[in-house]
Amino acid sequence: MSKNSPNAKPQTPHSSLQTPPPSPQTPNSSPLTPNTSPLTPNASLQIPDEKIYIAGHRGMVGSAIVRRLKKIGCTNIVTRTHKELDLLDQEAVFSFFRKEKIDRVVLAAARVGGIHANNSYPAEFIYQNLMIQANVIHGAWRSDVEHLLFLGSSCIYPKFAPQPMKEEYLLTDVLEPTNEPYAIAKIAGIKMCESYNRQYGTCYRSVMPTNLFGPGDNYHLENSHVIPAMIRKFYLAKMAMEGDVEGIVLDEKRYGPIPPDICESMGYRADTKTLESKVIPRVRLWGTGSPRREFLHVDDMAAASVFVMGLEQSHFENGNPSFLNVGTGEDITIRETAEIICRLVGFRGETVYNPDQPDGTPRKLMDTGRINSLGWRPSLSFEEGLKDACSWYMDRHFTNSGESEKE
Ligand SMILES: NC(=O)c1ccc[n+]([C@@H]2O[C@H](COP(=O)([O-])OP(=O)(O)OC[C@H]3O[C@@H](n4cnc5c(N)ncnc54)[C@H](OP(=O)(O)O)[C@@H]3O)[C@@H](O)[C@H]2O)c1
Repeated sequence: MSKNSPNAKPQTPHSSLQTPPPSPQTPNSSPLTPNTSPLTPNASLQIPDEKIYIAGHRGMVGSAIVRRLKKIGCTNIVTRTHKELDLLDQEAVFSFFRKEKIDRVVLAAARVGGIHANNSYPAEFIYQNLMIQANVIHGAWRSDVEHLLFLGSSCIYPKFAPQPMKEEYLLTDVLEPTNEPYAIAKIAGIKMCESYNRQYGTCYRSVMPTNLFGPGDNYHLENSHVIPAMIRKFYLAKMAMEGDVEGIVLDEKRYGPIPPDICESMGYRADTKTLESKVIPRVRLWGTGSPRREFLHVDDMAAASVFVMGLEQSHFENGNPSFLNVGTGEDITIRETAEIICRLVGFRGETVYNPDQPDGTPRKLMDTGRINSLGWRPSLSFEEGLKDACSWYMDRHFTNSGESEKE
């Protein structure tokens, strides 16, 4: 079918990843206790013999989705590194799709970062995300890809959205200004998928994850999210307490520079690579620690993504939103989160909060009722997830040279 004419024939949606009918649900257990639900997401999916392209397969989410797909038996997974295929390059993207004859796309490539990065580079955030999405979604459609999963974000919801946030709150009020450019790009991605479905009959759908963490996270202290930043700060302080300068140097080499305020609170002099004996290492965290946040382990996010890929298209049509929230449906304070990480990492010193710094929104929680009613729930408790993330981070200290994983 030629995709160069605006009158291209609509495609017939089909779903070759079959899910069983929704099973009866039990309410989600506390994120701090293991979920013993018999529901194992995707357990009964028919393994597709499809050629699946994962855009962003070296990122935290993309790599978890690759692991998940391999686990359920997918063998025809196509990947390209950023160097091999720059998704900002439209011609290269179109040519990739023309040559590869992809059946299904997972779009997990994006320009991602925390508040600081969003605030510092708003132009890059809006430009790169709009371009990556437009190139991949349109390139996929031009080459007859019927199925696509777009990774959005909970920041699409209005700043003052009622809590927990339901899918229907999209575009009901103004956004949080700090990440508005990123959020606008994500909203455009959702709307692009919806528009292609409407005009061309494709099965392009989106998932809106809550805050994610886990293996492969970004530990750079200037642009990381809250959990990886805490893991690194607590581990650095622990190493400083134990006089482990070699470990600190290795950490810096692997995960990026340690900002001066953190060096100061752990008594580390980056210029001489020495520890000051008079300083008792402490961990300083922003704000009061009272805001409540929701967090999901990335392996659960990957399982949810595969689950959503297997749903019938009717769940995303006939008045239903074209996307699903993905989260635990439960939140926890920043202070409680820090206490768990401190314990798991083994730091025995003091944690200091700075109430002069902004706390941000008091609460941010997704309503996950829709995806739960379709049959998915997370499998890891919050503490199990954190344990895995801390182990992943700490294990890197005992492996080879400390080179960056993404090189
Ligand atoms: N992490 C979270 O807490 C979170 C929460 C909600 C939603 N999400 C969404 O989940 C998706 C994945 O996030 P993530 O945390 O996995 O991010 P990530 O770890 O930063 O991974 C993003 C990936 O995209 C690739 N990429 C970026 N620009 C590219 C380009 N121009 N061409 C080719 N590849 C490019 C990156 O490659 P390089 O590293 O080589 O540039 C990287 O592999 C994003 O859409 C994000 O919005 C994430």
